[in-house]
Amino acid sequence: MTLHDIAPALLEDWLRNRYFSARYDISSSGLTPCTLGELRRSLGIDSAELDAIPFRDSPSTGSERLRGAIAARYAPGHADRVMATHGASESLFLAIAALVKPGDEIVTLRPVYQSLSSIAEALGARLRTWELRAEDGFVPDLELLRAVLTPRTRAVVVNFPHNPTGTTLSRTQYDELLRLVDSHGCHLLWDASFAELAHDGDPLPEPTGRLERALSFSTLSKAYGLPGLRVGWCVAPPRLIPEMVRLRDYLTISTSPVAEHLAAVTLEQADKVLAPHRELAFGNRALLLDWAARNSGRIELPTPLGGVTAFPRLVGVPDVTAFCDALEAEDGVLVVPGDCFDHPDRIRVGFGGSASELSAGLDLLAARVRRMSGVRVPGEQEAV
Ligand SMILES: Cc1ncc(COP(=O)(O)O)c(C=O)c1O
Repeated sequence: MTLHDIAPALLEDWLRNRYFSARYDISSSGLTPCTLGELRRSLGIDSAELDAIPFRDSPSTGSERLRGAIAARYAPGHADRVMATHGASESLFLAIAALVKPGDEIVTLRPVYQSLSSIAEALGARLRTWELRAEDGFVPDLELLRAVLTPRTRAVVVNFPHNPTGTTLSRTQYDELLRLVDSHGCHLLWDASFAELAHDGDPLPEPTGRLERALSFSTLSKAYGLPGLRVGWCVAPPRLIPEMVRLRDYLTISTSPVAEHLAAVTLEQADKVLAPHRELAFGNRALLLDWAARNSGRIELPTPLGGVTAFPRLVGVPDVTAFCDALEAEDGVLVVPGDCFDHPDRIRVGFGGSASELSAGLDLLAARVRRMSGVRVPGEQEAV
């Protein structure tokens, strides 16, 4: 395999032709984005401040102010380990390309956000799968990880809270994961894109402070609600940063100084930005769980513990991808077919939008499941 053979990104393929026209978008892994004006007003950024930004290239690893703001929250005292990039997507690409050599074994989750597996695969890695089993409600089982680690394992790539299932690790499991990775002498690639959206407790800690070979990734696209700003980052061992810069010089060179400025101010006021987002996500999760309970028998929903995606099974729907297509074309409701995550009997639902859009979308979704599912729920009237 070469990069030229990289698999199509199924999720992006699905969304690109539907995202801009859907009436009810309940597909996304992020929150409803705000406007530039809303962001400026809430953070006290005046227009003169933006007008003064020169359109120069930024430093290869990001502006000092932005790296400082990221480090202050996620890697105290280690701005030298921070690289700011175009979303977590670019960090992931650079880090995986810097680390992986043909023949390396890389452990990835299944289901998985595809960047976390397909890039390594295209670079010649042999993928070993740490399965999150549907029959366990996708609750991670560390024994299954232990079983796929070998002396050739170069890296374990994980994402908790997890897209699409919303599952996560307990604190005990987190400690055990770090111990396992450490004892195998491999790298941990920790995608923490949803870490700030932990619903039932504190966010899991940053592994980079504890493990020399850990790399951590995150973004303003999810919990911060700023996907179009295209700012993410990684915290990496200092020896890897020049490797990533070497690749970046052929890709994006640097991040926009306008985006960097807005990102830095956002991170400097992170708690203020995140508080209402957490509240919205928590409230919407309750709404989603209530909807699933009202539709039990046809909807099986493992409870998401973090992030704003859920991965329900549509019981008795024969072709879920065709179902999703019709749901969008005829009802205007956008979800993601589970095919994009190698689970064709499920869908990904995003609950980071407004409660009213989520309710309207879920009602139309349930009505269509009732019509299409072969399952009859006792006591319910036949659909006419
Ligand atoms: C787990 C995970 N990592 C990384 C990304 C990339 O996010 P971005 O490039 O917008 O920062 C996403 C986006 O959906 C994601 O779900």
